[in-house]
Amino acid sequence: MVYIFVHKFLKFSTKQINKLIKEVGKFAGQEVTVKGWLYNKRSSGKIKFLILRDGTGYLQCIFFKGAVSEEIFEIADKIGQESALEITGKVRAEGRAPGGFELDATNLKVISESHEFPITPKDHGIEFLMDNRHLWLRSNRQVAILKIRHRITKAIRDFFDERDFILVDTPILTPAACEGTSTLFETEYFDLGKAYLTQSGQLYAEANAMALGKVYNFGPVFRAEKSKTRRHLTEFWMVEPEVAFADLNDNMNLAEEFLEYIVQSVLQDREEELKVLGRDLTMLKNVKRPLPRISYDEAVEILRKNGIDFEWGNDLGGTDETIISNQFDRPVMVHRYPSAVKAFYMKHDPENDKFALAVDVLAPEGYGEIIGGSQREDNFDVLLKRIEEHNLPREAFEWYLDLRKYGSVPHSGFGLGLERTVSWICGLEHVRESIPFPRMIYRNTP
Ligand code: 4AD
Ligand code: MG
Repeated sequence: MVYIFVHKFLKFSTKQINKLIKEVGKFAGQEVTVKGWLYNKRSSGKIKFLILRDGTGYLQCIFFKGAVSEEIFEIADKIGQESALEITGKVRAEGRAPGGFELDATNLKVISESHEFPITPKDHGIEFLMDNRHLWLRSNRQVAILKIRHRITKAIRDFFDERDFILVDTPILTPAACEGTSTLFETEYFDLGKAYLTQSGQLYAEANAMALGKVYNFGPVFRAEKSKTRRHLTEFWMVEPEVAFADLNDNMNLAEEFLEYIVQSVLQDREEELKVLGRDLTMLKNVKRPLPRISYDEAVEILRKNGIDFEWGNDLGGTDETIISNQFDRPVMVHRYPSAVKAFYMKHDPENDKFALAVDVLAPEGYGEIIGGSQREDNFDVLLKRIEEHNLPREAFEWYLDLRKYGSVPHSGFGLGLERTVSWICGLEHVRESIPFPRMIYRNTP
């Protein structure tokens, strides 16, 4: 009894220290301290409004002349954008404030000052912002994107973890190409000659799938891509599920369930951030199973109907993908591409050898390919022939061929590019904003 009394008494009499901005609403009427950075500031005569940010939210702190010491009022007046501050005050409900609460400040401690922060609320050119990416990350738009990216990453892990997939980590330094030799970063590797930065963990995921059944790998991959488009990075993150005893159809079922899960998770938990980005949610809400499935042949027909002089056998380009995806109100799966434009490991369609059992998923609204996948060639002799046809060094693939020698099974998988997915869900103009420090052919700083 005494304990409860003392406890209650303490609760109401002590200051709530070091609270996160997102939780100050729980302490309405009480005094709290919060730590963060000065996001913005305005003043109206005897009142200074300091907006503090701490990563979890924004809090308007009000300094009334007279309610704080002269000295503190002076500091509140002079302190520069992005100074690190500790502010104490009483929490008050305020319907118009972001988060619904404000702080009537009683004290202010300067942890460190910041002067002339280069990024101000005015418009800056993109190159300037990219040069200052390390600081630009603090803007509310970038914070919103990073939070959505994190929610997508979590959804990716949850989805597979909940479905008995085992996360496996695949190497970044590899002895050979996986996705064609034209986009390889190479490096000297001691006495062993050259090593290459991986373009995809798939081949190693396949070996793991033969041990564990259902696996996924999730990590950075590299492409020495000469493309300067808004969809291309040289370093990006890919998640790759690989499933034993699964065919192309199973693979497409998995892909559509996966995309629905990711998008609906973000809509559920990150609506506020999507609003900061001004994202139109209509198309995102449509991302529900079943997703439309069309063959490459049907895709070509769509292109020709739309006046494109498309030559059968070519790969789909960015513009082609946009025209095709514009016919649908949700992502579309394009399957059975000509094998000539696809990777060596893809199984050919037993019904027509010209086609690979491949699937690409095209995002709506012009975001293009977000998933590429296939059923894998599981026959030793056929795979060996493909390796030779593609002029790949057999020695580097002996281990991969072994998988077809010892208990080979039909298996399939796909890779989803994280940054393209973030860009699409956030409605970004360019992938450069979808990752904290983008790497592109013309930029590797900061
Ligand atoms: O279609 P890709 O090249 O497929 C693979 O690498 C397979 N080995 C995956 C698998 O089956 N396990 O790449 C997969 C996805 C693309 O759909 C795209 O989203 C993304 O990776 N991607 C890129 N993202 C950003 N920048 C680039 N340069 C990208 N290249 C591919
Ligand atoms: Mg692809």
